[in-house]
Formats: sequence, C-alpha cells, structure tokens
Amino acid sequence: MNDTDDSDRELRVSKIRNGTVIDHLAAGQALNVLALLGIDGSGGESVSVGMNVPSDKLAKKDIVKVEDRELSQSEVDVLSVISPEATINIIREYDVIEKKRIERPEAVTGVLSCPNRNCITNADEPVETRFVVFSDGLRCDYCGEIVREDEMATHLDVS
Ligand code: CTP
Ligand code: ZN
Repeated sequence: MNDTDDSDRELRVSKIRNGTVIDHLAAGQALNVLALLGIDGSGGESVSVGMNVPSDKLAKKDIVKVEDRELSQSEVDVLSVISPEATINIIREYDVIEKKRIERPEAVTGVLSCPNRNCITNADEPVETRFVVFSDGLRCDYCGEIVREDEMATHLDVS
C-alpha cells in the first residue's frame, strides 16, 4: 500500500454502524439539515458531514451521517422541502436496511412555526401550523405569510 492507493483517495467519511445517512443532499444544505435535526454538537452525538463532495448523480452533493439516530416523519417532511433529491438510508450493523427516497410534499404540518406573530398558530390556541409548499418556499395556510426556503431552518419547531 502506498500514499496513492485508491481506497485512501476515496475515503472521505467513514461508514457508520447504526444510524442514518442522509445522502444526495443538494450541495450547501448540510448545515440546514443539522439545524433541522437540532444537532449543534452539544448533545454529544457522533456526526459526520461531507460538503461539496463529488457524486455520480449530482455534480456535487452534501452528506450527513448521524449515529444512533433515526428521523421522525416531521423531520423527513422538512428535509424533503429543503432537499427533495435526498436519500435517507437507515443503517443497522453496518448494513443499509432501508432506503427512503423522499418526495416533495404538498404541505408541511406541525414542524415550522409561522413568522407572523399575529398568526392564529402563535396565539394560545390549539392550532397546528400548516404550510403549503410551492416552488421556492412555503405559505402559511392560516395567514398567508411566506417562508422562503433559505429561511426554513430558522423557523423549525421540531422537538
Ligand atoms: N453508508 C454508511 N455506513 C454504512 C453503510 C452505508 O455511511 N454502514 C453510506 C454510504 O457511504 C452511502 C450511503 O450510506 O453514502 C448509501 O449506501 P449504499 O446504499 O451502500 O450506497 P449506494 O448504492 O451508492 O447508494 P445510492 O444508490 O442511494 O446512491
Ligand atoms: Zn401564519
């Protein structure tokens, strides 16, 4: 083995034993995905991030690997808006046991908070938020407020 061995060249982010690999993310989305998952390093999770790595399917992609964590449906919904091309791989004992290709949803319910302080979803009422998805953003179904795609991470309300 020498310095130019192919396996050395290709190893970027190592495989994980158990957890979730979010692959084929649009380049530039990895940090939004970490925000969406509420991961800032303080929780002690083992996380690997690849940004702008070469990909067969996309010119460049981001990839996020989170050990010992699976995603909730709400998290998958928001992910599908910020990066509809993403693939979610569930890993158990090093094997990919499930591969979910996500679809852009028509609406996202209960995951984002409305930026409009006067919106009924921000009043003390038992109303779940609901945003209708359009090409580059979301629209609150109650008050019409627009949340652009690049603002989504700051309005996440995922617990
Ligand atoms: N992966 C990982 N740890 C494992 C198994 C897989 O980090 N124990 C990662 C791989 O590096 C890859 C992704 O999970 O980024 C999907 O793995 P796999 O299905 O084996 O790869 P591909 O066939 O290339 O996937 P796709 O068809 O979705 O491109
Ligand atoms: Zn609203």
